Amino acid sequence: MKNMLPSAIVVLTLLSCTCGDNPGDNPGVQVVLTNKGLQYGKHVAAGWVQSFLDKVTVPDIKGDINIKIGTVHYTITGTTITKCDFPEPEVEFIQDISGLKMSISGLDVALNGRWMTDFWIIHDGGTFDMAIYGVNVASEVQLEKDASGHLSLTNFSCSAEVGNVDMWLHGGGSWLVQHFVSHFKENIRSQIKMTICPAVKESLDTLDFELQAMNVSFDVDQVLALDLSLTLSPAIQKSSLNLGLKGEFYDRKNPADPPFAAQPFVLPEQPSYMLSAGLSDFTLNSASYGYFSAGLLQVLINDSMIPPSSPVRLNTSSIGKFIPQLPKMFPDLLMILHVYAKDTPMFSLQPGVVKLSIQIGVKAFAIAPNSTQIPLFVLDVGSKFSGKMWIKDETLKGSMMMDNFTLTLASTEIGPFQTDTLEDMMGNGLKCFVLPIVNQKLGKGIILPRAKNMQLVYSTLKMEKGFVVLLSDVKVIQACKNSV
Ligand SMILES: *[C@@H]1O[C@H](CO)[C@@H](O)[C@H](O)[C@H]1NC(C)=O
Ligand SMILES: *[C@@H]1O[C@H](CO)[C@@H](O)[C@H](O)[C@H]1NC(C)=O
Ligand SMILES: *[C@@H]1O[C@H](CO)[C@@H](O)[C@H](O)[C@H]1NC(C)=O
Ligand SMILES: *[C@@H]1O[C@H](CO)[C@@H](O)[C@H](O)[C@H]1NC(C)=O
Ligand SMILES: *[C@@H]1O[C@H](CO)[C@@H](O)[C@H](O)[C@H]1NC(C)=O
Ligand SMILES: *[C@@H]1O[C@H](CO)[C@@H](O)[C@H](O)[C@H]1NC(C)=O
Repeated sequence: MKNMLPSAIVVLTLLSCTCGDNPGDNPGVQVVLTNKGLQYGKHVAAGWVQSFLDKVTVPDIKGDINIKIGTVHYTITGTTITKCDFPEPEVEFIQDISGLKMSISGLDVALNGRWMTDFWIIHDGGTFDMAIYGVNVASEVQLEKDASGHLSLTNFSCSAEVGNVDMWLHGGGSWLVQHFVSHFKENIRSQIKMTICPAVKESLDTLDFELQAMNVSFDVDQVLALDLSLTLSPAIQKSSLNLGLKGEFYDRKNPADPPFAAQPFVLPEQPSYMLSAGLSDFTLNSASYGYFSAGLLQVLINDSMIPPSSPVRLNTSSIGKFIPQLPKMFPDLLMILHVYAKDTPMFSLQPGVVKLSIQIGVKAFAIAPNSTQIPLFVLDVGSKFSGKMWIKDETLKGSMMMDNFTLTLASTEIGPFQTDTLEDMMGNGLKCFVLPIVNQKLGKGIILPRAKNMQLVYSTLKMEKGFVVLLSDVKVIQACKNSV
């Protein structure tokens, strides 16, 4: 049942898409496939069963039958499936084996082909119609995590039954061969039975091979990669499959674990959605740590980057309103600010809200006419933000507001000065000039990940303590051939 299982598994892996070295690690990301999702995957894949049957080639059957007066050689050839009625196959999670069971029962197939017999000098032949009733196939497979954090399929088991076979011969001196129909029937029946399970196994082996070849670590941008290897064995319940993935972003050039660990979290059961994916604040913070340790969370700000509408310019005269001695010591010089994160900005997910706290250092310089940077002072800035995230039109959107802004003087080359008005000015600058730009970007949002032929629909986002959960259904756009 090649595509039945893939659709289920591909859905899980495509959502995100690494290697667990500590099997005991708490997963940073969890993905749950519910029974609803499994059934949808099966339904989509049911069309595959049809094409599987279309492709089944029944091998030529040759044999001898001894009758009192000699031996009849026979050949059955060119056998093709003409019609196939099958009830919806069944797929279910099996807790005991930590795997899946797939079955089809009551499959009926009509076939036709040609027959030939040789008896002494009598060559005879014609066509035949055949009906096979009551084919039952049941197969179980166990889901495991391999050493490199891939999902793998093991412990395959399968049983196949073929109920009844009826055969009608046309043409030839059927008076002779009609006697052997019961022999043909038995032969055909066992031949068919013997081809089913190996074919199913071959499909699952191919799928397992594809899973092993799949990357579990993905480059996100120039800087970060995301490790989505399994950290735990797949957890199979009666009505769901839970995959615990590492969910750690890391610096591609200098991969290192962040100095904090993922905390355990429990995704709420959501059987009415096909999928749920939980992202812990560990995952967000690992991205933050990755950017921070790659040295990216810093920026040089000069006057030309200050919006033209700003009443405050980045020069010693303008900043002199807040620091009286500055223009006296360095009249009319342009300034430059080196703004950098002092530590990893940390996200904290809470019910309905995400909190972000950032510790920033600001080094201010005046630029001498010979371009030398003259150090002036260093500020410590602490700011806290809270944000919301939601999904609208298959797009992840957000908004942010500033909760707190504090500014203190860390060191100075120009003597002490009061920071209150500077604090107000910079806080307002953030609110009025920076946040609107950030919110405009967050408002546009990011389109949810889409696979070639799969799309998330009816998605919704819930923020809980320590994690955010995406609940979603999946829609397969380009279904498998479905022509029963
Ligand atoms: C296969 O199943 C048997 C019986 O349930 C179990 O003892 C064995 O460990 C399984 N093999 C693998 C590779 O999981
Ligand atoms: C897997 O990762 C490697 C290295 O990052 C990359 O070269 C390759 O294209 C990836 N393969 C797939 C199928 O994404
Ligand atoms: C300000 O910085 C930007 C970006 O680094 C740069 O393109 C620009 O030339 C700088 N302007 C001045 C006046 O130094
Ligand atoms: C400094 O800013 C003020 C406005 O506050 C402006 O009038 C002045 O020309 C600026 N000086 C320099 C050197 O850019
Ligand atoms: C540049 O100017 C500053 C201040 O005017 C001075 O202290 C410094 O020595 C000068 N540097 C060079 C390389 O001329
Ligand atoms: C901002 O943070 C400071 C220091 O943590 C605290 O004293 C102050 O009460 C906070 N202000 C607000 C409005 O939360």
